[in-house]
Amino acid sequence: MDFLDKLVLPQSTHHMVLLKYLLVLTYLILIPYFSILIGSNIISLFFSKRASKLNDTTAFQFAKDILDLITFNKSIVFGLGIVPFLSVMFCYAQLLHLSPISLSGYILISLIFFISALFFLYSYKNSFHMKDILRVASSAKSSDDKLTDDIINLSNRTNIAYKKFGTYSLMLLLTSAYLFVGALKLAADSTRWESVTSILGIIFSVNTFVYFIFFLVISLLVTSAGILFYYFRPNNDMTGLDDKVKELSQKTSLNIGLISSILMPFLLLLTTVIIPSKSLTNEIFIILIVIMFVTILIANMFYFMLKKGHTKHSTSILFLTVIFMVAVIVKDQYAFDTASQLQFNKLAKNYDVYQIKLKEEMGLTVTTVNGPDIYNGRCIACHQFDKKVVGPPYKDVLVKYEGKMDMLVKFLLNPVKVDPNYPAMPNQGLKPNEAEAVADYIMKTYEEQYKK
Ligand code: HEC
Repeated sequence: MDFLDKLVLPQSTHHMVLLKYLLVLTYLILIPYFSILIGSNIISLFFSKRASKLNDTTAFQFAKDILDLITFNKSIVFGLGIVPFLSVMFCYAQLLHLSPISLSGYILISLIFFISALFFLYSYKNSFHMKDILRVASSAKSSDDKLTDDIINLSNRTNIAYKKFGTYSLMLLLTSAYLFVGALKLAADSTRWESVTSILGIIFSVNTFVYFIFFLVISLLVTSAGILFYYFRPNNDMTGLDDKVKELSQKTSLNIGLISSILMPFLLLLTTVIIPSKSLTNEIFIILIVIMFVTILIANMFYFMLKKGHTKHSTSILFLTVIFMVAVIVKDQYAFDTASQLQFNKLAKNYDVYQIKLKEEMGLTVTTVNGPDIYNGRCIACHQFDKKVVGPPYKDVLVKYEGKMDMLVKFLLNPVKVDPNYPAMPNQGLKPNEAEAVADYIMKTYEEQYKK
């Protein structure tokens, strides 16, 4: 993604923190919307198929209502879908700049599928309305043959859209979600960054598959909570709503809600097992416990409403589902944070270099203390990381200084005799901040590249 690289600004640490917040906010918009699209598409498709097979007008009405619910306005596609998508792409282009993976490219491909899916989804929704209109039109007898032909023609075309476009949009949405989830999971697992060199690495990955199933179940849970709230929220004026549609929506949302919230804890465990151990921190465990607790609560509410045949908890369920979504997103973001620590160090270093250059260009003289420069200037004559020169190789002697940077700095400021097989190291006359910088540099390089 060369063109994206050009958009990238050098990242300071503050800049990266800001980007990570932006990413979380964006997810809070995009992921619920994405999941409701998928969930509604599945449910609507199911009922429209049933309507055609059994000539069931209630199922037809319900399928139509659900589609209208998510597609009430064309501009929400931009606000809740496309713009957040672009924002995710932009954030990753910045955050993963200089890393070996081209995540934004994968997200772009996912976006293309997403847009095509929405095109079919809106046409699918229109076909429901056209069917209604055509039913009225064809029942009105007309003596005009040409008009009758037109109606038949239009009916045929509408039928194609009605029969096929729902399936197309679902397939495209699922493909988009699969790639999207795969890209997100790849970002959160830096151990795979070197090995995943193309989109195939995302497609054929157990991680992607498990998270995709997780995302599907989330979609069904969020959608059923949404449908339940839409029909049965307190003070909702139900006059004019067919009783049979009401009954069907209650039965459907409660059943799907119950099944998906029961599946959720198992999927959560499964997704936790495959998180790279590097990313598993205490924070993640705590959030996981919260998520478990919330899903069990949701499952209970669904169960009692189903058993008692009421819908009293529709507001609580929606509220808990929002908490659930936020917790899942924050948890994943924590995993990404921990996994990408090295990447952020790299970017921060790059930023330092950039700033020095910038200052030089502006004619400001800068005296900076720079670890690599000190090493190259003063130590390299006697030390390499993996070979003995005059002094011992760093990879052998730095082991004992791991986590004891102050001791290493102390040694550099005032070298004492250590190993009888070597001569004493001459004092290098370093200033304290120089000793710190070079100690920091050799330790990091050792830990990143030479540690066994
Ligand atoms: C003139 C050669 C020479 C130069 C220059 C030199 N060293 Fe050494 N260094 C040695 C020798 C010889 C030893 C082994 C000393 C011993 O075991 O007593 C040593 C040991 C060390 C050790 C291991 C200490 C231990 O506890 O085992 C570190 C770390 C080290 N040097 C870092 C540096 C750094 C950083 C620089 C540059 C700022 C540097 N050295 C420059 C020769 C040199």
